[in-house]
Amino acid sequence: MNQPIMQGVAALNAPAYVKHQKLINWIADMAALTKPDNIYWCDGSQEEYDRLCAQMVAAGTMKKLNEAKRPNSYLACSDPSDVARVEDRTYICSTNKEDAGPTNNWMAPAEMRATLNPMFDGCMRGRTMYVVPFSMGPLGSPIAHIGVELSDSPYVAVNMRIMTRMGKAVYDVLGTDGDFVPCVHTVGAPLAEGQADVAWPCNNTKYIVHYPETREIWSFGSGYGGNALLGKKCFALRIASTMGRDQGWLAEHMLILGVESPEGKKHYVAAAFPSACGKTNFAMLIPAIKGWKVTTIGDDIAWIKPGKDGRLYAINPEAGYFGVAPGTNTATNSNCMASLTANTIFTNVGLTDDGDVWWEGMSKEAPAHLIDWQGKDWTPEIAKETGRKAAHPNARFTVAATQNPVIDAAWDDPAGVPISAFIFGGRRSTTVPLVTEARNWVEGVYMAATMGSETTAAAVGQQGVVRRDPFAMLPFMGYNMSDYFQHWLDMGKKIEAAGATQPAIFCVNWFRTDDNGKFVWPGFGDNMRVLKWMLERIEGQANGVENIFGLTPTFADLTWDGLDFTQAQFDTITSIDKAAWAAELALHTELFEKLAYHLPVELEVTRAALEKRLTA
Ligand code: OXD
Ligand code: MN
Repeated sequence: MNQPIMQGVAALNAPAYVKHQKLINWIADMAALTKPDNIYWCDGSQEEYDRLCAQMVAAGTMKKLNEAKRPNSYLACSDPSDVARVEDRTYICSTNKEDAGPTNNWMAPAEMRATLNPMFDGCMRGRTMYVVPFSMGPLGSPIAHIGVELSDSPYVAVNMRIMTRMGKAVYDVLGTDGDFVPCVHTVGAPLAEGQADVAWPCNNTKYIVHYPETREIWSFGSGYGGNALLGKKCFALRIASTMGRDQGWLAEHMLILGVESPEGKKHYVAAAFPSACGKTNFAMLIPAIKGWKVTTIGDDIAWIKPGKDGRLYAINPEAGYFGVAPGTNTATNSNCMASLTANTIFTNVGLTDDGDVWWEGMSKEAPAHLIDWQGKDWTPEIAKETGRKAAHPNARFTVAATQNPVIDAAWDDPAGVPISAFIFGGRRSTTVPLVTEARNWVEGVYMAATMGSETTAAAVGQQGVVRRDPFAMLPFMGYNMSDYFQHWLDMGKKIEAAGATQPAIFCVNWFRTDDNGKFVWPGFGDNMRVLKWMLERIEGQANGVENIFGLTPTFADLTWDGLDFTQAQFDTITSIDKAAWAAELALHTELFEKLAYHLPVELEVTRAALEKRLTA
């Protein structure tokens, strides 16, 4: 062990295997600022995970579930005020405001540092600072990058062990001078001498702050999900998107799946959907068409770099799934349910009387009684009377990717997998057809840039309102959105210049409703029908018809075996209503006016061409 380096500050006690002096100095500086009682260096072992979980059970933060029903699994319930990402408290602090762009909250770095420094001064008093080394992506992969999170939350430490490659081995990759993204997280609830802790400490004031130029993350006040597990949205999307811009790669809010035809032809596709639009379900889908196989590389984030052959290769930078529990069941996602049978952390779901978990939609019949996520008695009758949910709508599970029965054999391959197609989807009850193929890269980028989606419980705020969510990246962009569009256009040109085939680009909408507000498309395993058409398009084996926005299949172009779906139903979800599209295009114009700074001219030209075709 190295010697403690500062008096009056918790002993640093850096393990001998940590040989990176800059890292040690940074931790010493952060400890001097935040003043934890102890510093604990996580090694990532199972023993450590079990010990920290036991410690949290003793503290009341987590409950151990019935070992016979759900082995080695826990339930944590958060403070009711700390249940989702806080987009309005999330900042991109670039030197120039234009570099954060009009879609991000911005503050000058010096001003933000001056705001945060007094808040972080002593913020870990009475607590332990956990040093959490992690790799986003397979250790040592040329596509992977390393981060170190300092957090005063043991809940963060154990979740990071599931969600990332976390532990000692990271220091071997870091060596004496490797690059890492420093991430500081505090729940913002220091304890005075003798003050008792609460089960879920947090602070009403929250700041989720990114300094893209110096690649630093500072998070204050929340212990929940993307606010606190800094490898996920903060690093793997906001900071990584900036790294991608500077270094010529892409960090995307995309699942990655492998799909294999009955003839054994395999493709990998990456698909972007806004939060809580079924990405995890799509990534694990059980095909409704015989003979097809879908396997998972990742369910939320893709890091994509050009390979030597000019094609794009993707890894899942994460090692686990932090998925939305409500609505998940054996019919909607039986692979997911199979993943959750053991070794899982549940957050904000209901606790049944036999020590298991339950959430809305898990089974047709609700348990007669349970304790809801807020610790209150809950029965179906109470729910009916009060509308109170057993699980919070943004309740989550944290589970290792390796527990997924359909994990792809290449999911951990440091080289990544080649991407044949990109899919962009939103939650739209009207207007957007089931599937459209872009006729070229620019049209695909346009489709992605103008995506809209109805908001969900994944973020604090009003739900069900359509907002523009370009590339499903609106809450996750680390720089100016228009520069990001340009980056995508440039990537397309680079692929072309390298003589490689650009991935095809598709836009989908699983969520169109009928006059009674009911979803028309069955979704889930039946999405395979759309996926099959896409792959056949890539292989040059399927037809489609051109419309004003791209190319769509006719009823006859999709496979309907095993599904009773009529031409009339198909028309309901594929029709293009000219008036609705005129209104939609007006919203595209509004978006482009907002994003005027550096907006690529190609996108404006594409919009004008669409308008012309619409009014022709
Ligand atoms: C997530 C999100 O948690 O997108 O993946 O909010
Ligand atoms: Mn997500």
